[in-house]
Amino acid sequence: MRGFSRILGAAALAATAGMASAGDVEVLHWWTSGGEAAALNVLREDLQKQGIGWQDMPVAGGGGTQAMTVLRARVTAGNPPTAVQMLGFDITDWAREGALANLNDIAAKNGWDSVVPAALQKFSKFDGQWVAVPVNVHSTNWVWANKAIMDKLGISQPETWDEFVAALQAAKDAGYVALAHGGQAWQEATIFDAVAMSTGGPDFYKAAFIDLDEDALGSDTMKTVFDRMATLRGFVDDNFSGRDWNLATAMVINGEAAFQLMGDWAKGEFLNAGKQPGKDFLCYRFPGTQNQVTFNSDQFAMFRQGDKVSPEQAALAEAILSPGFQIAFNKVKGSVPARTDLDVSELDACGQQGYKEFKAAAASGNLYGSFAHGHANPAAVKNAMYDVITAHFNGEYDSATAVKELVTAVQLAR
Ligand code: BGC
Repeated sequence: MRGFSRILGAAALAATAGMASAGDVEVLHWWTSGGEAAALNVLREDLQKQGIGWQDMPVAGGGGTQAMTVLRARVTAGNPPTAVQMLGFDITDWAREGALANLNDIAAKNGWDSVVPAALQKFSKFDGQWVAVPVNVHSTNWVWANKAIMDKLGISQPETWDEFVAALQAAKDAGYVALAHGGQAWQEATIFDAVAMSTGGPDFYKAAFIDLDEDALGSDTMKTVFDRMATLRGFVDDNFSGRDWNLATAMVINGEAAFQLMGDWAKGEFLNAGKQPGKDFLCYRFPGTQNQVTFNSDQFAMFRQGDKVSPEQAALAEAILSPGFQIAFNKVKGSVPARTDLDVSELDACGQQGYKEFKAAAASGNLYGSFAHGHANPAAVKNAMYDVITAHFNGEYDSATAVKELVTAVQLAR
C-alpha cells in the first residue's frame, strides 16, 4: 500500500512537470544508476553539440514500471514529454492510442528499414509507420561473475544447470554470497527469462511467453522452471528484499558475491566502476542458453506535440540511430547496437560476443523477446506473471501451485 501511494505521489508530481521549451527536448527515462547515467550523458552531449537543450525527467526503477506510471499521468494531464524511453509492447500500446509521432520521413532519409532487424522493427513500427527509434539491444540471459573469486575457488565457466548449481554451492561454502540478487518483481522475472529458456529451450519459451499457450504455461517443464527458481532462492543473502539491481551488481564488483544473473546493463556498472571484462569480471550466457538471445531494446518514442515532428524530435531521432552514436553509447551502456551494419571492434569482448550472437539470432529468426522486459507479451500479462513469479520466489506458493496460478493469472489478464 505504501509503495502504491509513493508511485501515485510521483505520478502527481510528474503531472505538473514543465513542458520543454522551443529548442529543448524533455526526455523521460529510467536510467538512474551510475552506468546508465554515464550512457545517458553520451546522448545528452550529442544533442548539446547540435544546440539542443536537454530537460531531464528521470524516474528511478529498473525495468521501467514506475516510469510507465508517471508517463500515463503526464499524458492524462495533457502534458506529454517530448521523448520517452520505452520497451516493446508499451510502444505498441501507446501507438494504438494515437499518441506517437510518425517518424517515416526521418526513417526513409536515413535508410532505417534496411539496417534495423525485423525483430526490432516489430516494435519500432505500428501499422507500417515508424513510431520509435531503437537505441540499443540488451539481452537478459547473462551471468556476471567476479573473476578473483572464480580463480580462488577454481570455478570454470558452468556449461549446464548442474554445473552452475555446483559453482553456486562452492561459493556459498567458501563464505561468499553465491548469488547477488535484488528482490524486486522485475529482477525475479529477469532470472525467470533465462531459467525458462535454459530448461525448456526456444520452442517452450515461445509457446509459454509469446504465444501464451496454456499447455506450455501449465506444463511439467514450467514446474521444473519454478523448482529451479526455488533452488536459486537458496543462494541469495538474507537482505535481498527490495534491493536495487545495481546494488546487487556492486556486491559482485566488491567481491562480496560471486555471481549475478542480470541483463547486460550490469556491464555498464562494472565499467563505470573501472572494472575490465576478462580481468576483473566475466560475462557468459546463462548455462543452457549458449546459443539463444532473449533480447530487449530500449527505444525512444516521440510523443505528438502538434501535427508534425518537431525539429528537436527529428534531431534526437536521427542522432540515436546514427552509426557513430550507436557505438559510443553502447560501449558505455553494456548493450549492443540496434543496427546490424556496424564495425564493433571498439566494443569489449562481452559486447563483441553479444553483437555477434544478436546478429546471428536475428538472421536465423532465433531472437526471442524477453518476457521480463516487455518484449514477449503486453504489460497486463507481463505484470500478472510477475506477481506469480515473485510470490513463488518469496515462498508463498510451492512450484505446483505456482504453475496453476500462472495459468489462471494469464487467463485473467489477456
Ligand atoms: C532497460 C535497460 C535498463 C534496465 C535497468 C531495462 O528494462 O532496457 O536499459 O538499464 O532496465 O534499469
